[in-house]
Amino acid sequence: MRSPIPDYLAEVLEEVRGDERGDVADYIPELARANPDLTAIALATVEGSVYCVGEAGREFSIQSMSKPFTYSLALGDQGFDDVAARIGVEPSGEAFNEISLEAGTGRPLNPMINAGAIAAHSLVRASSTAERDRRVLEHYSAFAGRELGVAEEVFESEQSTGHRNLGLGHLMKAFGIIDDDPVDVVNGYIRQCSVSVTVRDLAHMAATLANAGVQPVTGERVVRADVVRHVLSVMTSCGMYDAAGDWLTTVGIPAKSGVAGGIIGVLPGQVGVAVFSPRLDVHGNSVRGIRVMERLSRDLGMHLM
Ligand code: DON
Repeated sequence: MRSPIPDYLAEVLEEVRGDERGDVADYIPELARANPDLTAIALATVEGSVYCVGEAGREFSIQSMSKPFTYSLALGDQGFDDVAARIGVEPSGEAFNEISLEAGTGRPLNPMINAGAIAAHSLVRASSTAERDRRVLEHYSAFAGRELGVAEEVFESEQSTGHRNLGLGHLMKAFGIIDDDPVDVVNGYIRQCSVSVTVRDLAHMAATLANAGVQPVTGERVVRADVVRHVLSVMTSCGMYDAAGDWLTTVGIPAKSGVAGGIIGVLPGQVGVAVFSPRLDVHGNSVRGIRVMERLSRDLGMHLM
């Protein structure tokens, strides 16, 4: 029998397609060129099935949805204590690009905001920036179950306007949070944000987290289960930035958004969900994406509480 899931997802998609609230991100010139009407949903189970609707083959940059994956790599490389010495796990209550550094120590409040993500990138073990870039890309690819690449035009565009992130990198270098050259680290962070994905890739990546670190299709253990638990906890409290509380009450699952318009959500033990639609609200989260997630959470009983 044909699965009813695609028809259900198509109905959800149609419900939000007409919503024209919000604007595409414009502080990265290449993102301002996005078609604001694109909308796609993908749902991947921990058994390896995936269902996609809308413009699901369209690639876009992963942006901040990269942050939990790099954080997981840093945790595996350095261990919980050494990472915690440099990056906190507390919600900042501030925008993603704020200077949310702990007074006195310069420690970023969490790894989901830009400051913490830049620090996490620097903690990926490597003897050169090229090796670090390669390890990050391989790690994401293992989550997705296919070889991913970098959208060079997005990388160059963000690099040419990345003054805020460079400022954060220099500050954290001054505080001793980052050991390596801050310009190299920020470039590496921008490169990780420029990795090109589809909602299908993202759903598989989220499903790998839902499956306690084992990629459902390839069967590869990508990260340890205790690392996944830690990452999902931080996604729950900090993944949607200063809208994390709203998200937790209405949708109620660990999630992460990206400024290109993607959102991933993880229902542990069951599914990974990904949505894409470039119009963003004031927090930098996809307007239609949030509506889709709210509806799925309600209809499928995904709320953890
Ligand atoms: O560093 C930046 O500003 C971007 N590369 C990522 C920001 C982002 O995706 C915020 N999320 N909604």
